[in-house]
Amino acid sequence: MKAFLSVALLLFVGLAVSIWIGFHTKFSEDTLPFDDDQKGIKDQVVIKFSHVVAENTPKGLAAQRFAKLVDAKSDGRIKVEVIPNGGLYSDQEELEALERGDVQMIAPATTKLSTFSPKFQVLDLPYAMPTRKSIIEVLNGEIGKTLLQSIEKGNMKGLTFWTNGFKQITTNDGPLLQPSDLNGQTFRIMPSPILERQFQLLNAKAVGLDFNETYRLLESGKLNGEENTISNIYSKKFFNVQSHLTISNHGFLGYALIMNEDFWKGLSKGQQRILSESLKETTKWNQTHSFEMNEEQLSLIEKQSDIEIYHLTEEEKRNWAAYFEPVYKAFEEEIGTELIEQIMKVRTKHSDL
Ligand code: LMR
Repeated sequence: MKAFLSVALLLFVGLAVSIWIGFHTKFSEDTLPFDDDQKGIKDQVVIKFSHVVAENTPKGLAAQRFAKLVDAKSDGRIKVEVIPNGGLYSDQEELEALERGDVQMIAPATTKLSTFSPKFQVLDLPYAMPTRKSIIEVLNGEIGKTLLQSIEKGNMKGLTFWTNGFKQITTNDGPLLQPSDLNGQTFRIMPSPILERQFQLLNAKAVGLDFNETYRLLESGKLNGEENTISNIYSKKFFNVQSHLTISNHGFLGYALIMNEDFWKGLSKGQQRILSESLKETTKWNQTHSFEMNEEQLSLIEKQSDIEIYHLTEEEKRNWAAYFEPVYKAFEEEIGTELIEQIMKVRTKHSDL
């Protein structure tokens, strides 16, 4: 009986020890995925990334993708909190919030940087980048580099560019086939002198307003129309309150990825590497898929609404481009002759507009 009890005790102790070892190894701090409840939370870096568009857009999806990549590569130690739809700051406010360090990362439309750095207006010259290839060449090449450097004077670190797509025009008073069809109408634009001038050339009135104000003003009839990418027209449902859509491809809409510079400098080399690698992968994905997304969402608009859609012919685009031509001269001093010459080279290489 004594021998039996000793064997049972031995077995019990052995079992308890192996359970403890197994449990401890499986769930120790070294092997646990990092989560907010663990100690060490104070070492977690949080990046608030604010933007104004919907989640189902080239920028919205790229932002989420970036956050996931950073999370995976840092083993949860760097957390990117994406706040879409202007939930934290409107277009006008987000630049100041970034400079103050209230958010660490933003991706404003390049147009919205033009008061901060007038050179950015080169990307808003009408029909300057008439094809996808020309856009990628400009953003990823010398012009893109010059632009990112031009914003380093503030507390901003320019990182890279994401694309959305070509801008189109919608109205409640169409069709818009010729430039003269816009005569007397009022359009929402992103606040920008160069965009304002373009609408003046068409004898239309342009009002610079926050993106998330647009739907309400279109619906109430206070505005006739607006210009934007299909992705923004689709995700914000502008097509439901407009009667005509002209596929003009007259301008480009894309984003500069910017980080608060003090915040960036405060990161370790390893953390900077994780962010740079994740951004590089996300940018590649975004620059490939954004154009497809715009195409897919155009067919969804066709299916879901009665809006009349008109595609300008190449001949008509040449006519629209000729109307816009004076803008190039008018903004030469602000943008700089060299940048305009560089973009003109790309334009003529990729099209005969
Ligand atoms: C707009 O204001 O129309 C755009 O900047 C929105 C966006 O960020 O795509």
